[in-house]
Amino acid sequence: MITCGTLVLQPVQPFHSTDSGLACDGVSVAAVAEAEGTPVYVYSACALRTAYRAIDEAFASYPHVIHYALKANSTLAIARLLRELGSRADANSGGEIAVALRAGFTPDQIVFTGVGKTPDEIARAIAIGVATINAESAGELDRIAALAAAQGREARVALRVNPDIDAGSHPHISTGLRSNKFGVPLEDARAIYCERRGLTGLRFTGVHVHIGSQITTIEPLKRAADALVSLALALKSDGFALEHLDIGGGLGIPYESRPMIGPADYAAAVIPALERSGLPVVLEPGRAIAAPAGALVARIVDVKRYVDGRLFAVLDAGMTELMRPALYGSFHRIVPVAPRSGVEQPWDVVGPICESSDVFAIQRMLPPLDVGDLVAILDTGAYGAVMGSNYNRRLLPPEVLVDQGRWTTIRRRQTLDDVLALET
Ligand SMILES: Cc1ncc(COP(=O)(O)O)c(C=O)c1O
Repeated sequence: MITCGTLVLQPVQPFHSTDSGLACDGVSVAAVAEAEGTPVYVYSACALRTAYRAIDEAFASYPHVIHYALKANSTLAIARLLRELGSRADANSGGEIAVALRAGFTPDQIVFTGVGKTPDEIARAIAIGVATINAESAGELDRIAALAAAQGREARVALRVNPDIDAGSHPHISTGLRSNKFGVPLEDARAIYCERRGLTGLRFTGVHVHIGSQITTIEPLKRAADALVSLALALKSDGFALEHLDIGGGLGIPYESRPMIGPADYAAAVIPALERSGLPVVLEPGRAIAAPAGALVARIVDVKRYVDGRLFAVLDAGMTELMRPALYGSFHRIVPVAPRSGVEQPWDVVGPICESSDVFAIQRMLPPLDVGDLVAILDTGAYGAVMGSNYNRRLLPPEVLVDQGRWTTIRRRQTLDDVLALET
């Protein structure tokens, strides 16, 4: 971990330049690309472990459990690696619950979150006995109660509250404002709990909040924890035997290499509030664990030089492999894989998809680039491969995990037969 005062500059730096080119924990990225073809995702197991442990250690002084948010990256090998570290799982759909089970998580290690859960998903979560269902609305609580009662079971639930706090991140990944679709207004929560007290099929075990992702300042995270603790104390005084607080995920990472908050700052800011509650805390980090561990490696398939001097590098990866820049205008560092000398110039680094938003970087200062060069798009371990699509009939890329100087393919490249197998 590289620190700057108490602020974290880069949580982990698995990708580093060597005389022979970019390496991931000592493994040549070019060699992986040669063997697997491009585009390809490369992840560092060491970086995943380091990031997980940094959060775990930051909260060491307070009773906590980490439920890694599978939505960030749910490739089986990565889910398994986190389980082996002691993580539990946060699943956002029936599919993610199924993946968690296949990765070896037991149902009581899984929390089930998500807007718009279907009756089938809820019934299955109740039947297997997940740790908690984080309910999104009063109506969903009632549906959970009815489905649980029909099975003769009791569902362990927490209500997700919306505290109307601006996470300060991109609007598309902010979830804690009144205008967002998530949770119930904080001020309505107590009444919703009280009205459903003793309802057959429901057991209120906690309270839940998640105000957004890529949060880079402490204040919103602290305010959300404070709000949740106040609610929990009120519910305790109403006689609810709560067992935990779930403060969600959201901790950001320094995509632009600027110093920012890290797990220790986060823990220091929220633990005093949590202590008031006397309840253990559930954490649901995704990005902070997975993002720095991954790079998308792509090859330049075309270079365009306009008469006005504008330069384009067209990659064989696009928004189908990494959607974040097109979806949120997000920034990712881009580095040539082979050592490149020469004067840096502003490049537009773009994908091959027939969409003008298929752009990874605009006017990015990079050394001379040429057709055939490999580039790595960094910090793409979270919300990268999981958001892949087959648009333009493109095939999902392989994923590779580097661990202790060796690499293995943890997902093979999709074939056209895989895709067409679904069609008549
Ligand atoms: C309910 C919930 N928990 C956890 C997360 C993970 O957030 P992050 O990856 O920012 O840590 C998300 C992501 O949106 C979420 O919606």
